[in-house]
Amino acid sequence: MLSPEENSMLTRVGPGTPAGGFLRCYWQPAALSEDFPTGGAPQPVRLLGEDLVLFRDEEGQPGLLGIHCAHRGADLSYGRIEAGGLRCIYHGWLYDVDGRCVEQPGEPVGSTFHERIRQRSYPCLDVGGLILCYMGLGEPPLLPAYEFLAVPPDQARTSKVLQECNYQQGGEGNIDPVHHSFLHLRFGRSEDDRMSFYGQDPTPTIDPEETDFGVRVYAVRRLAEGRNYVKITNFILPSLYAVTGDANGYSINWHVPIDDVTHWKYQVVFRRNSAPPRRDGGSRSATGYLAVRNRGNRYMQDRDEMKAKTFSGLGMDFQAEDGCVTEGSGPIQDRAKENAAYTDRAIVAARAVLLRGIRAVQSGAEAPHVVREPALNHFPNIGAAKDVIPSEIPWRGYWENETALRENLIAHV
Ligand code: FES
Ligand SMILES: [Fe+2]
Repeated sequence: MLSPEENSMLTRVGPGTPAGGFLRCYWQPAALSEDFPTGGAPQPVRLLGEDLVLFRDEEGQPGLLGIHCAHRGADLSYGRIEAGGLRCIYHGWLYDVDGRCVEQPGEPVGSTFHERIRQRSYPCLDVGGLILCYMGLGEPPLLPAYEFLAVPPDQARTSKVLQECNYQQGGEGNIDPVHHSFLHLRFGRSEDDRMSFYGQDPTPTIDPEETDFGVRVYAVRRLAEGRNYVKITNFILPSLYAVTGDANGYSINWHVPIDDVTHWKYQVVFRRNSAPPRRDGGSRSATGYLAVRNRGNRYMQDRDEMKAKTFSGLGMDFQAEDGCVTEGSGPIQDRAKENAAYTDRAIVAARAVLLRGIRAVQSGAEAPHVVREPALNHFPNIGAAKDVIPSEIPWRGYWENETALRENLIAHV
């Protein structure tokens, strides 16, 4: 449970808000790179409550500008891509990717007025199948050297889906281990099927541990014959979650606010030594990034399926299951009315880290987990893992570092 003030502090993302200022301290995805081929059209993008236009110039450089032309406000997403940048179709002012106005063809010859015009602009980088942008003040920090951004393109699969709720709701679901024993439960699995472990022990020990990047969460389920099923997930500041992994890679859910009441869930699945598994095809509709099962069709819940196959009747579609419950708590969940329990320990820990970071930024300090020193831009302790281990082995320490993580997983999975 949070106070109404804390809930607002965590969930409001527009310019000038506490979380808005905090989130702007980090690189954020603005789009999937594949949606912006060189030579393609500029497109409107709404991000952190700001209306922007994203485009690539003729050389393929991405540019992210305020959507309304600095002249008299025309929508630049209808503009022309020309040599030098994006040209407004109203009176032809031309902007480069840095927001400089490089031409005003209707002004008298010799006019230098264009030199005094600056369109709002945010720096962009094209990395790992994403166009990332920095919307904060001052010099951008280093782009975090996350493994999933650095693998070759054929070893990662990057996608996104629209979530019709505040970014924090979607995010919190990733560090809520007990819901696997209910929302995602499948009936009739054999005892050694990993999916059945969640049903075998619906009361896991939940052990959150604060780290330099956010929170590491251990969820420990007791199985027969003195064994534990241990699953590790990570909350990574400001809104990333390493959700499932093994020796060959892990998956990231990155919850990026469009505004206060909608967000993009970017998903990156990467493999260290192979191609990622194929997309299951269940989530993206033919018309965009609205999931096939969505709020408008009540997620196509099937009551017969609930009797025989699944707890939730949502087609064994993880995205639909998570979307149903996180969107179901409203555009912005009122956390002053919730009753957080033992099972919510990791969420409570993550909120504390976030609120501390937001307050730090408000007081003028550097945001946590923002890196400016190349020597510190290395995160061997980020990752998701799962394993069945003898119950006498302490789960903390079983995965001590990246090397141990890989070796242990290779030895035991
Ligand atoms: S409004 Fe864009 S050039 Fe005039
Ligand atoms: Fe889930």
